[in-house]
Amino acid sequence: MNEITVLKTACQVEKTVGQWRNAGMKVGFVPTMGALHRGHLSLVSLAMEKADRVLVSIFVNPSQFGRGEDLDSYPRTFDDDLVRLNDAGAHCVFFPSAEEIYPQEFSTNVSVGGLTEALCGKYRPGHFDGVTTVWAVLFGIVRPDIAVFGRKDAQQLAVVRRMASDLRLGIKILSGDTVREPDGLAMSSRNAYLSSEEREQASVISRGLLKASEMVSQGERDSKRICDEVRKVVSAASMVSIQYLELVDPDSMKPVKTLSAPGLLAIAVYFGHTRLIDNVILKP
Ligand code: PAF
Repeated sequence: MNEITVLKTACQVEKTVGQWRNAGMKVGFVPTMGALHRGHLSLVSLAMEKADRVLVSIFVNPSQFGRGEDLDSYPRTFDDDLVRLNDAGAHCVFFPSAEEIYPQEFSTNVSVGGLTEALCGKYRPGHFDGVTTVWAVLFGIVRPDIAVFGRKDAQQLAVVRRMASDLRLGIKILSGDTVREPDGLAMSSRNAYLSSEEREQASVISRGLLKASEMVSQGERDSKRICDEVRKVVSAASMVSIQYLELVDPDSMKPVKTLSAPGLLAIAVYFGHTRLIDNVILKP
């Protein structure tokens, strides 16, 4: 099997991707912050199915972390990540320094309005600007044909779709399923922060979401009644604190009162200092 290539500069990426494109190959891109788990690897597999060459970026993007958030403690496991990506068959890793992405004179901010103000945007001011700005830089360097994102970050997915469409980036945005632990907990690099007791309790999140799906399949359409029941299920864990739990339109992130089309039930909780998000699409 080929050894995966590690590229550290934008120039190296441009050169490599240029060669792929000249050879008529379709380029797939999976942006990550590393600490890769099976969720990320499933996105890589999807990219491998849809493109001839796959580049994965590993960049813990400082501009999407707010003050007091976990930028410094964010897990960094590059050597393990590389082994996993190599095993998954990815062709290249882009592993830039912060200066490579944000040179001293960098002065641009990319901001998507509207849907970034709901859910996570309410509680993490500046977060989505950091995300959309780094995407603009990464997309500019890689110029992929397709880019793959996880549905666990449902708001992020809606934002990148909006941005790609508004700016006519010509990038096809694909999404991959949330991958779950056997007890239902959505895989996340941040799960590593949980104590064993918190980890045990964290399965209430997916149990809550499952309850919502059951209610909808039994005919419930009222957002408040659904959210009240989910809140009960999740709050059964003594160590949880719910930050938000909302039923919204999956594209606009606007609140939905009565379910008449597929709705996104999105939740953010804290276990201690660890913030976890999850969601389910409820189909009436
Ligand atoms: O989802 C993430 O890990 C990050 O937000 C992303 C897409 C890599 C941008 O920094």
